[in-house]
Amino acid sequence: MALEGRTVVVTGAGGGMGRGIAEAAAEAGARVVVGDLALDPVAETARRIETGGGRALPLVLDVTDPASITAAIARAAGAFGRLDGWVNNAGILRMEAALDLPAADWEAQMRVNVSGLFSCCQIVARRFIAQGEGGAIVNVASNAGKVGYPNMAGYNAGKAAVINLTRSLAAEWAPHRINVNAVCPGGVETPMLMAVAEWITSRQGGDPKELVQRMAPAQLGRPIQPIEVGRVVAFLLSDAAAVIRGQSINVDGGDTPY
Ligand SMILES: NC(=O)c1ccc[n+]([C@@H]2O[C@H](COP(=O)([O-])OP(=O)(O)OC[C@H]3O[C@@H](n4cnc5c(N)ncnc54)[C@H](O)[C@@H]3O)[C@@H](O)[C@H]2O)c1
Repeated sequence: MALEGRTVVVTGAGGGMGRGIAEAAAEAGARVVVGDLALDPVAETARRIETGGGRALPLVLDVTDPASITAAIARAAGAFGRLDGWVNNAGILRMEAALDLPAADWEAQMRVNVSGLFSCCQIVARRFIAQGEGGAIVNVASNAGKVGYPNMAGYNAGKAAVINLTRSLAAEWAPHRINVNAVCPGGVETPMLMAVAEWITSRQGGDPKELVQRMAPAQLGRPIQPIEVGRVVAFLLSDAAAVIRGQSINVDGGDTPY
């Protein structure tokens, strides 16, 4: 139980990867605060965790609103006494050819995936420093931030920013004993991946469910599940990962060799 006695916040935990990360953190012993734009989906995540014997607190959290982030931290600390880990999982994807991408879609992706993530890092780091015992931050980037997939230019660029930000913050906050790492998942079976498959098949034909299966990493031969990414994130939140710092680790079944 590498996270026994720790309190971890997961953003965007109302479904998909965030729910898998929250479940994996609870499996590792953490008390988990699950935040998302609406309460019902995170209440369901919390219910699943508590049914499995874990502790969870659901709350509304918008990562683009600093007041909402500050309030989430206060509620997490109020409920569980302290805060030890933060997972920046919330993210959005707007598929479009780069030539046609509306400015609003570019900006929305940057606002949530980069600026919102940075605000969360900044506000939680101040809390960790005030507590005086350090902490761990894990950012959910993407292998898209290394590869640069077609029709995802704004998303790719934002995730590349997260990879670099992870390095910068790890170096800057090491004196405060704050460890910052990122994961770079490949295609993980979530509503976001299904939306990508629907976007592609609506233009090229075919069945989106079948396409999701065909997007499976070649070496793995099946799609990646959210909890599998979650278990890597849980490891990165733990003391066992103290020697891994500022890294962006591929969790994509071997698809990206760098
Ligand atoms: N699914 C994949 O294949 C894949 C691959 C690599 C990286 N990722 C990344 O993993 C993360 C989770 O993606 P997912 O596949 O579960 O997507 P998803 O769309 O299924 O879930 C994203 C969650 O983030 C929440 N969210 C969006 N904006 C928010 C905001 N402003 N504040 C708080 N929450 C917000 C949504 O409500 C949703 O619950 C994202 O950062 C995504 O970019 C996904």
